[in-house]
Amino acid sequence: MTRESLREVYDLSKRTILLTGGAGFIGSHLADRLLSLGATVDVLDNFSTGYAHNIPKGVRNAWKEDVAAPPKLPAYDLIFHLACPASPPRYQADPVATFRTAVYGTVSMLEEARKNRSRILLASTSEIYGDPLEHPQKETYWGHVNPIGPRSCYDEGKRAAETIGTDYRRKYGIDLRIVRIFNTYGPRMDPFDGRVVSNFVRQALDNLPLTIYGDGSQSRSFCYVSDLVEGILRAGLVDRLDEPVNLGNPAEFTIKELTGLIEDVLGHPLKREFKPLPEDDPRRRRPDISRARALLSWTPEVSLRDGILRTLDDFRARHPFHPTDGTLP
Ligand SMILES: NC(=O)c1ccc[n+]([C@@H]2O[C@H](COP(=O)([O-])OP(=O)(O)OC[C@H]3O[C@@H](n4cnc5c(N)ncnc54)[C@H](O)[C@@H]3O)[C@@H](O)[C@H]2O)c1
Repeated sequence: MTRESLREVYDLSKRTILLTGGAGFIGSHLADRLLSLGATVDVLDNFSTGYAHNIPKGVRNAWKEDVAAPPKLPAYDLIFHLACPASPPRYQADPVATFRTAVYGTVSMLEEARKNRSRILLASTSEIYGDPLEHPQKETYWGHVNPIGPRSCYDEGKRAAETIGTDYRRKYGIDLRIVRIFNTYGPRMDPFDGRVVSNFVRQALDNLPLTIYGDGSQSRSFCYVSDLVEGILRAGLVDRLDEPVNLGNPAEFTIKELTGLIEDVLGHPLKREFKPLPEDDPRRRRPDISRARALLSWTPEVSLRDGILRTLDDFRARHPFHPTDGTLP
């Protein structure tokens, strides 16, 4: 299944799709892609970490509502449930709201799926593996998560979302798909959301030192957003997907290597500033994507260098940055 052939294989012109979190970073790219395949797309988003201007013009309805208390919705063929803050400073700013969104928000979308026999895809996260003792992380790994730490509202919230989703499938036979998304970056990221790539790119363009937490030897894998969207799409459209699937780029880089790459791409030296490692920060993260390769014929294609170049172009076009919502980390 190539990207080009997807349009023929999956003609979405007769499908109505609800996209929660469609004003956010990943959701807005997914909305673009669904519209390009002919789908009718509605967005439900409370704009807590997303922006109205991210929602593409072709979207039919855009509701400004809380996913945990949704309005009366029409029946959809498919629900892509992405609504949830994803950046640590943002989700930690109101941990109760985060947990409520992750769990109650998921329950309300599962109810929609149950009532209308809609297929539903749940956006889970690599954070459900916590600070992993197994490397790289396979879907069979149960994780190493602190249930009462500052990241728990998100990590445990998403774990609970996977649990209740799987129980809805067991009890009601709903068609649920779970994707575990690893660190994703690209154009349209919020420059102030406190994620590592957006932080570094913003700081580099503002001639500020790059903030490195710890000594920078911790590793991450970075997936470019178009690759991720392709994986989400395939997970939502294949005939069956009964097991959770990791979506991420298995190429592993240390934070120090990432700063070096940005320096190299920009062509001038950048200063670094070191700060203490946040509590419960995972030391290593890398997806094992054998399952996605086998079940979705999916593999990321964009190198970190190319992805950073595209992200820099997008950030440059938006520079100087204006934190519009006052939630600077
Ligand atoms: N970006 C990543 O690297 C990453 C990694 C793992 C998982 N994910 C998951 O992917 C999804 C999207 O992440 P993103 O990076 O686009 O984040 P984002 O913060 O840019 O987007 C999330 C969107 O959800 C909306 N939202 C939040 N709470 C809501 C609520 N209660 N009701 C309605 N809308 C609400 C926000 O306004 C925003 O538009 C999330 O579920 C996240 O957990 C993202």
